[in-house]
Amino acid sequence: MSTETKPAYSPGLAGVVAGETSICWVDPNAGLAYRGYDIHEMAEQANFEEAAYLLLNGELPNAQELMDFGRRIAAERELPEPVLDMLRLLPKKMHPMDVLRTGVSMLAGFDPDLNDQSHDANMCKSIRLIARVGTLIADGWRISKGKDPLPDKNDLTHAGNFLYKLTGQVPETWQVRMLDTIFILYADHDFNASTFAARVTASTLSDMYAAVTSACGTLKGPLHGGANEESMKMLDEIKTPERAEGWMMEALAKKAKIMGFGHRVYKAGDSRVPIMREIARDYGNRIGKPEWVPICEKLEATMEREKGLCANVDLYAAPVFTMFGFPSELNTPIFAASRIAGWCAHVTEQHDNNRLIRPRSIYVGPALRPFPGHSSSTK
Ligand code: ACO
Repeated sequence: MSTETKPAYSPGLAGVVAGETSICWVDPNAGLAYRGYDIHEMAEQANFEEAAYLLLNGELPNAQELMDFGRRIAAERELPEPVLDMLRLLPKKMHPMDVLRTGVSMLAGFDPDLNDQSHDANMCKSIRLIARVGTLIADGWRISKGKDPLPDKNDLTHAGNFLYKLTGQVPETWQVRMLDTIFILYADHDFNASTFAARVTASTLSDMYAAVTSACGTLKGPLHGGANEESMKMLDEIKTPERAEGWMMEALAKKAKIMGFGHRVYKAGDSRVPIMREIARDYGNRIGKPEWVPICEKLEATMEREKGLCANVDLYAAPVFTMFGFPSELNTPIFAASRIAGWCAHVTEQHDNNRLIRPRSIYVGPALRPFPGHSSSTK
């Protein structure tokens, strides 16, 4: 029945190049660079605002530009009152990723530039979204626990303010430094699933809020951002380094997917793991909880030996967030609080040079057959 020859295809689009980008380079051999800057250097020296500015604008800010950018984000953090009212109406048990997705969708109605897809309007929307995604997560979480949202502390960096708004405590300088590093690690990763979802939505010339709503829904899944929540459940179950190998062998024997392992692009190691592992070690030593890293290391060694698979960043992010004091449901939203910068940069890049993203499929259903018609089917 087919009028065309059957084309080759790649399940899951593995290995398919779906576009060009100048935002981020993922090197399969464990490398990652934003606009040409190695994240290992950035993670040590930059803060999240610098990384977000770089992703959006293509170049690092000078001191004045960085200050202005930080001030613009700070000025946009507060949520419109109706959005806070909506957060109060949501079921208290709703997952924070679903709260975030709903909140982003509602915020669209309050953005005066919503339907202007020009570069300048997209930059304004990006700043509002970077500012408000953090607030949606923090305020949404506090409201779900029957608490009032806290006012911003604008003398803190974006990462510091986010920590304060979630916990109600002014964070230590080293905690802010750590979260800045984590936010830099998570800020972008070329055509990962959530960013690709955002770009597909943007490619129809739909707006940035619609694209970020798609991205939030995509990040939630445990094969992508949701893995850092699932990894923590696994580590909580394992409890001690001595139990790690046995736990892993049993899970592999059952052919289970082990969260925090494997990656579509990295086959020789995830570029972000060494930095996240050291953050986990440092945090553990500071607060007298050194056991998480040895558990993860034992899992890594067993997985390497049994299946040759490497750990991904979510394995070590999970215990770090636990040591920050966050419940595991917040792990993926914290990822989103950083990835919003990458999503916005990609939506802007897509709009600036757009072509509809619309792949084909191979039809494998029944061959053409005569429709029986109503008279014959009711006989
Ligand atoms: N646990 C057990 N087996 C695995 C795992 C895993 N975590 N990951 C891959 N495999 C297996 C696959 O089942 C496959 O086995 P098979 O050949 O017997 O069928 C083999 O390893 C090769 O798999 P890939 O083709 O490399 O996997 P793919 O690219 O399709 O999937 C993915 C990548 C989704 C990340 C996968 O590794 C996975 O499910 N990991 C667990 C979830 C996770 O940690 N996600 C976070 C990703 S990083 C991020 O989003 C920040």
